[in-house]
Amino acid sequence: MGKTIIISNRLPIQLQIHNGGITAVPSVGGLATGMKSVHSGGDSLWIGWSGLTDEDIPEELAGDIDEALAKHGSSKVKLTIKEVDGFYYGFSNRTIWPLFHYFLEYSEFELESWEIYKNVNQKFADAIVEKANEDDTIWVHDYQLMLVPQMVKEKLPNISIGFFLHIPFPSFEIFRTLPWREEILKGLLGSDLIGFHTYDYERHFLSSVRRILGLEVSFNDIYLENRIIKVDSFPMGIDYKKFSDAAKEHQQRSPENQSELQQRLNKHKKSTPDAKFLLSIDRLDYSKGIAKRLNAFEYFLKKYPQYKEKVRLIILAVPSRSNVPQYQLLKKEIDELVGRINGEFSTVSWTPIWYFYRSMPFENLIDLYTSCDIAWLTPIRDGMNLVAKEFIATRTDKTGVLILSEMAGSANEMNESLLINPNNFEQIADTIKQAINMPIEEQQERNNVLQKRLARYNVEKWANDFMTSLKNQKEKSHSYVSR
Ligand code: ADP
Ligand code: G6P
Repeated sequence: MGKTIIISNRLPIQLQIHNGGITAVPSVGGLATGMKSVHSGGDSLWIGWSGLTDEDIPEELAGDIDEALAKHGSSKVKLTIKEVDGFYYGFSNRTIWPLFHYFLEYSEFELESWEIYKNVNQKFADAIVEKANEDDTIWVHDYQLMLVPQMVKEKLPNISIGFFLHIPFPSFEIFRTLPWREEILKGLLGSDLIGFHTYDYERHFLSSVRRILGLEVSFNDIYLENRIIKVDSFPMGIDYKKFSDAAKEHQQRSPENQSELQQRLNKHKKSTPDAKFLLSIDRLDYSKGIAKRLNAFEYFLKKYPQYKEKVRLIILAVPSRSNVPQYQLLKKEIDELVGRINGEFSTVSWTPIWYFYRSMPFENLIDLYTSCDIAWLTPIRDGMNLVAKEFIATRTDKTGVLILSEMAGSANEMNESLLINPNNFEQIADTIKQAINMPIEEQQERNNVLQKRLARYNVEKWANDFMTSLKNQKEKSHSYVSR
């Protein structure tokens, strides 16, 4: 049996050049954190972009870069600044990302960035062809690389190709607005198996294939020339054990071994024992609904003034795609909202919002997950949202309340959390109140069910299900051809 080649725009680590040397930092985002667990467990090679452009890399460091990546079982695709601009900041994040998250008004349709997207997809496909043998399995990830399956299939027609989309696939009415809709669908159909997080995304995709390409679709099989392509949903899980073990280890630490952040959290908890901490963690992205959440928090404080000085919202926003104007505007909006709300409600002993705009080490994520009473995640649209799952996995004593937007893919599997519509401020304010007052026994009952489910459907099971389904599909398609 051959190896698995994982291919995504972002590698599990990002390289940076500091003081003439190379440093590697872990990548943030659901794809990287999820696939990292899969990659570390088996015989796989991960191909992707290192985070550095050709122009960033001095000649004398080129060898060191390959070496640094090889240590992580990775190999790079070289990209110039112009390619990163057109492919990543351009078509991927100014056209596809907003469109697939239903932000139609943010979507830009520019021929030049589409052309660069095609060329860069070809570069990724060439990198696969260079490294692959016919008995390998290729697993392509996400919206940045939707043309890659067909490009690889053209060169290696017998190789197994799976594709997984980590973001929503929008309804036909949205997808049809894309000028290059046929090309994108045909690109994806180079795969033998196409996976989505939810049944809804799968259904939307099949409907577009039927209506735009006019292909025959039977249940979730697509018939194309002499091939059958399977489409299915595989809700992505987390590395449950990693999070629950980290939380257990965290709780056993003596106070002097705790992080500075944890010591500060402890101090505040001690000084206001009946106050509740609300937590939200996201990349700074308009799809995550951070600005709306802040407005809803203000609404809550006005509707239920008895909770002034009794709740604190901790917002951790990770910098993301900061060259895209919509992200810059959002950063400004959030800065202003935090300033305004804190200005309006703060007292001598209380600041309602603590706002961190940075990436944090894993240890600090665990500090936050385990110290907060309520996780409050309100994406306007989200393919999955792994943060919701990670929060539950760290609650070793099963206390804690999760308030989750019904627009997140993970809401389908987390019915025992408090589900809200992120646009309904009335409902949100009442739900925060309900969460604050939820009896411990009820919290534990809900989390017990959630934890069992998340432990069973972890990221390993997700990857195994996908790979097994890909293998079966390849055999089915093969016997169809030889009929
Ligand atoms: P998305 O993939 O859209 O960013 P997810 O919630 O699915 O959203 O995944 C986010 C991932 O990034 C999670 O696995 C989370 O642990 C990680 N993450 C979020 N914030 C930080 C942070 N500040 N530092 C490091 N990792 C983070
Ligand atoms: C989401 C996408 C990933 C992406 C991640 C971080 O999870 O599905 O493909 O890697 O966000 O975004 P970035 O643009 O920094 O790679």
